[in-house]
Amino acid sequence: MTTSPLAELPRHVNELLTRIEQAATLAQLRDDEPFVVGKRSILSTLQKSLGALEPEDRKAAGAQLQEARRSVEEAFARRRSALEAEARAVALEADRLDLGDVVLARVTAPVAVGHPGIVAATQRQLEDVFVAMGFTVADGPEVESDWYNFEALNIPPAHPARGMWDTFYVELGEPETVVLRTHTSPTQIHLMEQAVATGTLPIHSVMPGRCYRRDTPDARHLAAFHQIEGLVVDRGITFAHLAGVIETFTHAYFGDDISSRLRPAFFPFTEPSAEFEITCTICRGAGCRTCSQTGWIELGGCGMLDPAVLEAVGIDGDEWSGFAFGFGIDRCAQMRHQIADMRALIDNDVRFLRQFS
Ligand code: FA5
Repeated sequence: MTTSPLAELPRHVNELLTRIEQAATLAQLRDDEPFVVGKRSILSTLQKSLGALEPEDRKAAGAQLQEARRSVEEAFARRRSALEAEARAVALEADRLDLGDVVLARVTAPVAVGHPGIVAATQRQLEDVFVAMGFTVADGPEVESDWYNFEALNIPPAHPARGMWDTFYVELGEPETVVLRTHTSPTQIHLMEQAVATGTLPIHSVMPGRCYRRDTPDARHLAAFHQIEGLVVDRGITFAHLAGVIETFTHAYFGDDISSRLRPAFFPFTEPSAEFEITCTICRGAGCRTCSQTGWIELGGCGMLDPAVLEAVGIDGDEWSGFAFGFGIDRCAQMRHQIADMRALIDNDVRFLRQFS
């Protein structure tokens, strides 16, 4: 009696099922595939051996082998699904953005403490210098009527100076034109009106704040920038007082090695008027791109209060006289820290800003 080629079939099936279960990864299962369910598996070898059986035995053995193959193939498919699900879970886990962890990291990380920006810090330093010289600090609106920004400052409609100080218009015409102020000079008018109304002349004040102009940003200009206005109204004030204040300020803020000069200029609201310049701190006077090769940088304008302005606010020009000045705060910051291009102040590059903490 010949031994059936399928005598060891249960053992073979068990071995195949074990091998399938032991495949730890999809890659391993794929490598095993030809040996467990493919052409090189023991089941394929047994299939071939069935040809030697008698026809009646062959049919029963074929059915038995078919059943074994079915159970192995099912186990293989189950294992493949399980390993695929595992691989998907691993990939998902790797891709998962754990907001809980992120939030926790934020909460537990040391919080970086900010610091005032360069312009804000400069404004405070300038205020300190002027307060030490006996000035008070006042504030004024950034949105002004045409009257305060221009007319009360002796700049009537169609005056050429309006072109130089063109701005952004909030309202045009009726009932009045409203603009973003082009300079801090309108705050002079508010202060003088207030002092007249409350009988609190004399005035010795500085007025810092933001201004706007239709200027194309370049190395020395921004469309939104800052000025600090100065105003003195008192008895017996002369140009010498103005020159003395400017000289004292220059040395206090920039140091003794920086020179200043006043050059004749024109402003509709001061007479006589001057431009106030200091040695360019970037090239130390040699000439560079920032100072347009002149060696000097204009910081602001100044002059004696024009009688027309005193009259507009109801101050008696026979009793009172005074001077005013207006400096660019951003320009002061630029010169103090030797910043070649003023646009760096608004780029918000933290590597630049951190240098001034
Ligand atoms: C004025 O604005 C006058 N109101 C100054 C003044 C006040 C004169 C009181 C007399 C009496 P000016 O347009 O020159 O003047 O500007 C003064 C300063 O503001 C400039 O020297 C500069 O430092 C700064 N400044 C002007 N425009 C810009 C700008 N677009 N960007 C940055 N700084 C500016």
